[in-house]
Amino acid sequence: MSENLSGIHLKDAIVSLKKEKNAVILAHYYQTGEIQDMADYVGDSLALAQWASKTAADVIVLCGVHFMGETAKILSPDKKVLVPDLNAGCSLADSCPAEEFEKFVKEHPGYTVISYVNTTAAVKALTDVVVTSTNAKQIVDSFPKDTPIIFGPDRNLGNYINSITGRNMLLWDGACHVHEQFSLEKIIALKATYPQALILAHPECKAPVLKIADYVGSTAALLKYATASPVQEFIVATESGILHEMQKKNPAKTFIPAPPNDSTCACNECNFMRLNTMEKLYNCLKYEIPEIFVDKKVAEKAVKPIRKMLELSEKLGL
Ligand code: 13P
Ligand code: SF4
Repeated sequence: MSENLSGIHLKDAIVSLKKEKNAVILAHYYQTGEIQDMADYVGDSLALAQWASKTAADVIVLCGVHFMGETAKILSPDKKVLVPDLNAGCSLADSCPAEEFEKFVKEHPGYTVISYVNTTAAVKALTDVVVTSTNAKQIVDSFPKDTPIIFGPDRNLGNYINSITGRNMLLWDGACHVHEQFSLEKIIALKATYPQALILAHPECKAPVLKIADYVGSTAALLKYATASPVQEFIVATESGILHEMQKKNPAKTFIPAPPNDSTCACNECNFMRLNTMEKLYNCLKYEIPEIFVDKKVAEKAVKPIRKMLELSEKLGL
C-alpha cells in the first residue's frame, strides 16, 4: 500500500491500522481539521494528559507537539507513544532550558515551583506542580496567599494569573511566538467591522490583547464559552485550528481568526503543530515511529508534579 494514498483511502487505512494495533489517536485543537476529524479524542493540553493517563490502548498517537507526547509517555510509561513528526517542538518550551531554569530555582530557595505543561520533561522534573491554561488559576489559588511561587515559563499567562489572583509570582521570561504575534491594532479594526463580535483570547496573548478581550480562557474554555453564548460573532485570538471545532459545534455562528502582525497571513497557525499531516499520521501508525522516549530518572521526577496536577484537577472538577 503506497503512502501517497488519496484522501479517502488514507482515512480508511488509518482507521484499520488503529484497530489492528489497538491504538488511540489523541489530537490537540491546534491540529488541522482533517487530523482532528480522525482522532478518537480532541482536546486541550489538560484533556490530552487526562486521556493519556487513562487509556487502555497499547499505542498512543499524540497529534500535537513533543512536550505533549512526553507528558503522555511519562503518565503511561508502558505504552508506545508516537508523535507523527518529532520536529513538532514548541517555542514556549524552548524558551525555558532546564539548566537555566534549575539555576533560577536554586537562586530562590523556599519557592514553590509551578510550571505550565508547555515545558520539557527536564523542567517538569524541577517542578512542584504542573498546570495548564485550564487549571492554572485554580491550582495557584489552592496555595496559601503568602506562598512564594515561581511560575514558568509563560510570562503572559503568569502576568494574567497574577492580575486575577492578586499574587506576585516570580515569572520566568518565556513566551509563545504564535500568541505573542496577534496585532492589537488589527483586532481593534476588526471589532469596528464586526461591532457585535465578542473578542476571545488565550492567556498566552500579550496583556493589551487580554485587556480588550471579552473573555480570556484556555482553548477548551473559549470553545465552551462561544458555544454557550447567545452572541453570533467572535474574533478568536488563539491558534486558528480551534476554529474547526468551534465552527463544527456552532455551524450558524461566525468565527473570525484574529490577525497577526505579519500582514502576509490572515490567520495565525503554529508552524510546529502544523508539521503533523495525514500522511505522517498514517506512516507513524504503520511503522510505529517516531516514538517518544523519556529518560527514566527524569520521568520518575516529572511524573510527580503531573500527577499532582491531575489529582488537583479532579478535586476541582476540571
Ligand atoms: P491549551 O491547550 O491549554 O489551551 O494550551 C494551548 C497551547 O498553547 C498548547 O500548545
Ligand atoms: Fe508551543 Fe505556541 Fe505552538 Fe502552543 S501554539 S505548541 S505554545 S509554539
